[in-house]
Amino acid sequence: MTAFVKQVVHTREAIKNFRQIGGFSASSRFLCRKMLSGIDFSKDLTILELGAGNGIITHEILKQMSRDSEIHIYENHPSFVEVLQNINDSRLTIKDDCVSGISSCDPSTFDVVISSLPMAIFTKHFKHDIYNNIKNSLKSPGTFIQYQYSLLEYKELEKNFPNCKIEFCLFNFPPAFIYKMQYEDDALIPRCRRFRVA
Ligand SMILES: C[S@@+](CC[C@H](N)C(=O)[O-])C[C@H]1O[C@@H](n2cnc3c(N)ncnc32)[C@H](O)[C@@H]1O
Repeated sequence: MTAFVKQVVHTREAIKNFRQIGGFSASSRFLCRKMLSGIDFSKDLTILELGAGNGIITHEILKQMSRDSEIHIYENHPSFVEVLQNINDSRLTIKDDCVSGISSCDPSTFDVVISSLPMAIFTKHFKHDIYNNIKNSLKSPGTFIQYQYSLLEYKELEKNFPNCKIEFCLFNFPPAFIYKMQYEDDALIPRCRRFRVA
């Protein structure tokens, strides 16, 4: 499926069910690359992607990650799951499930969590559970990356991940803010060390 067809499928599904998808167009290649910049793909990584859509970011991750890395993705929209199931790569595991399913992941499993979930349309309670589940599933140190179309989520993210950095991608429709967070389990950090962003 070409990038153009993927955009058409994304927009069609978003028109039918905006509350599920949360954005009328799939991420641009500029946004995908900016999301992933700063991740050290020379290492073998275990990656979790949330809200993979039709796999526009997934493809970029697969392109950059090492042969022994693995990526697990959550997507619960049937049309997108169908598209994702056509990706033929043994490093990829697809969970056709709501993101709340990550509560069953083993603790400290992932080096990086990449999310394009539409946080702005989720309830406070649901987001609270997602952030707790992400913290639980991340290794320490680990990286959490999330994009949104506004800065409204900053306060909530900063509360959960106290060293949240923001980048901006103009070349996307609509332009997007990328939140990049370094997670460290408080219990494991010597008292004298402060949080640092990679
Ligand atoms: C803004 S789209 C992003 C799609 C794609 N990753 C991209 O960047 O173009 C958000 C995606 O999150 C998915 N999503 C929304 N709620 C979800 C949930 N509770 N569990 C899993 N996926 C969800 C939607 O189906 C949609 O594919």
